[in-house]
Amino acid sequence: MSLEKKILDLNEKRRKAMLGGGEQAIEKQKAMGKRTARERITDLLDKDSFTEYDMFVEHEARDFDMDKKVLPGDGVVIGTGTIYGAPVAVFAQDFTVAGGSLGLAHARKITKIMDHALRMRMPLIGINDSGGARIQEGVNSLYGYGEIFFRNTLASGVIPQISVILGPCAGGAVYSPALTDFVFVVENISKMFITGPEVIKTVLGEEISMEDLGGARVHSEVSGNAHFFAKTEEECFEQIRKLITYIPWDNTRKARMFEPAEPKPGFDVGKIVSDDPTMPYDVKDLIRAIADNSDFLEIQEMYARNIVIGFGRLGGRTTGFVANQPNEMAGVLDVDSSDKAARFIRYCDAFNIPIVTLVDVPGYLPGIDQEHAGVIRHGAKILYSYSEATVPKITVIIRKAYGGGYIAMASRHLRADFVFAWPTAEIAVMGPEGAANIIFRKEITSAENPEEMRKKKVQEYKEKFANPYVAASKGYVDAVIEPSETRKMLLHALDVTENKSIPRPHKKHGIPPF
Ligand code: HXC
Repeated sequence: MSLEKKILDLNEKRRKAMLGGGEQAIEKQKAMGKRTARERITDLLDKDSFTEYDMFVEHEARDFDMDKKVLPGDGVVIGTGTIYGAPVAVFAQDFTVAGGSLGLAHARKITKIMDHALRMRMPLIGINDSGGARIQEGVNSLYGYGEIFFRNTLASGVIPQISVILGPCAGGAVYSPALTDFVFVVENISKMFITGPEVIKTVLGEEISMEDLGGARVHSEVSGNAHFFAKTEEECFEQIRKLITYIPWDNTRKARMFEPAEPKPGFDVGKIVSDDPTMPYDVKDLIRAIADNSDFLEIQEMYARNIVIGFGRLGGRTTGFVANQPNEMAGVLDVDSSDKAARFIRYCDAFNIPIVTLVDVPGYLPGIDQEHAGVIRHGAKILYSYSEATVPKITVIIRKAYGGGYIAMASRHLRADFVFAWPTAEIAVMGPEGAANIIFRKEITSAENPEEMRKKKVQEYKEKFANPYVAASKGYVDAVIEPSETRKMLLHALDVTENKSIPRPHKKHGIPPF
C-alpha cells in the first residue's frame, strides 16, 4: 500500500472513531441538550490546542456478546491541551458509545491520562457522562473504578482535579468527582446519585424524579456536592476556564500573577457596613470593594450561604476569601458552613494561595438540631484547617467576633499572620445581651426596674468589651484600621508574607475531624 493510500486509510479510521456511537446516538445526545465528548473538549480548551491519545483503543470483553460489539475509543476521549495557555489533561466520557459505561479499556484510558497529569504536574479535568459500571464487564469495571479512586486520592493536593458532570453519574461512579477538588454541574443535564429512582421505588416504594434526587440544583443548594452551577454547558466551560486562571498547575507552584488593578468605582468599602450591629449587609460587596478589578469567583454560591468562599486577586495575586455573610442567618457558623469553609481553607493551603478572612460572626449556631448534627465535630474542622494552614493568613474583623466564632475565624491564636480590626469590631466571649443577662443577673432581677437595669448593664458591657481596643491592647489585634485602609493594609500584609515559611512537627498526617 502506498503512503498516500495509508494516509487515506488512517483518515477514514479516524473519521469512524470520531463518530463515536454513530449519527443516531449523536442525534439523541443533542436532543437532550448535550454536546458530544469531543465537542465539549474543543469548546472548553484553547482553540486547536487539544491532542487526543488512544483513539483506537478497543475493549477485549467477550461475555454477553461483547465480542460482536465495536465500541469506538471504548466510550471515552482522553488527551491534553491548554486553557489560557495553562496545560491541562482531560478525559470526556462519550455517552453515544454504550452509554459512556466504564469497562476495563475505558478505565485504562482514564487512569493513563490521570497518571500523565500527575507525572507532568498539570490540572486534570474529567467530564462525566456515563451509565456507570459496564454491566457486561462485571468485576473488571469495579477494578477500573477502584483504580480511578486510588489515583484521585494520590493526586489530591498535588494537582488540581476538576470534575464536570454533564449527564448521568450514577452508583459508585460518583465517588471519583467526590474525591476531586471542584465539581461543576449544569441545570437539567447533570444527574448524580448513588441509587437511582428505579431502585428507590423497589426498595423504599417512593417515587422520585432524577432531578429531585440528584439534579444540578439539589447538589448546589442542598447536598453541597457541587461547587459551580451553570445553566448551559457553555456557561459551565466559561466558569472552568475562569477557575483555571486562579489556581496553580500543581502544589509546587504559585498561581499565575496578573497585572494589579484597583477595585471598580461603585464599590465603596466605607458605605457597605452599617454602624448598627444588627443591620445586615452583603459581604460580597465588601470583597468586591477590596479585590482587584472587583472580580470575585464565588465557590458553592448556593450552599451554606451564611459563609462566603471564593477566589479574587489582591495586587495581582490569587487570594482565597473566607467571609461570614451577615445577610444570611446573621453569618452564624453551623455544620454546613464549617464544612464548606474548612475544605476551602485546606484547598488554599495545599495550593499556596494566601487566605484573607473577613469576620462578622455571632458564634456557632445553638440548638438541638445542630448539636445532634455534629456541630462539635464539624465546627472543629475550621479550627483544624486554619491551624494547619501555613500559607499567609490575614484576618480583618469587621464587626462581631464572638466566642468560638472569634477563635475559629482565623484569629491570632490559630496563627493568623496579621489581624486587623475596624473601629466597629466587637470582640468578646459572647454578645452583650447574653453576657449582661448572665453576669449581672442578680443586679437585674433585684432592681426596681429590671428592664432599665438590663439596658444599662448591656451598655456597660458594650463599652467595656464590645470594641477592638481590649484585644488590640493585648496584641491579639495588630492594628485598628479605617475601612478605607483595608485594601492598602491587605496588600502590605501580602507583600510581607510573600516568602512565609514555617516548620511544623513531623507527622505522617494529622487526623482532622472528618
Ligand atoms: C452497559 C449501558 C450502561 C451500563 C447504559 N448502557 N448504561 N451499558 N452498562 N451501565 C447502554 C444502554 O444499554 C444503551 O445501549 C446505551 O447505553 C444508552 O442507554 P439508554 O438507557 O438508552 O439511555 P437513557 O435512556 O438516556 O438512560 C441513561 C441511564 C440508563 C439512566 C444512564 O442507561 C441507566 O439507568 N443505565 C444503568 C445505570 C446503572 O444502574 N449503572 C450501574 C450503576 S452501578 P444501546 O446499545 O441500546 O445503545 C455502578 C457500580 C460502580 O456503577 C461501583 C464503583 C465503585
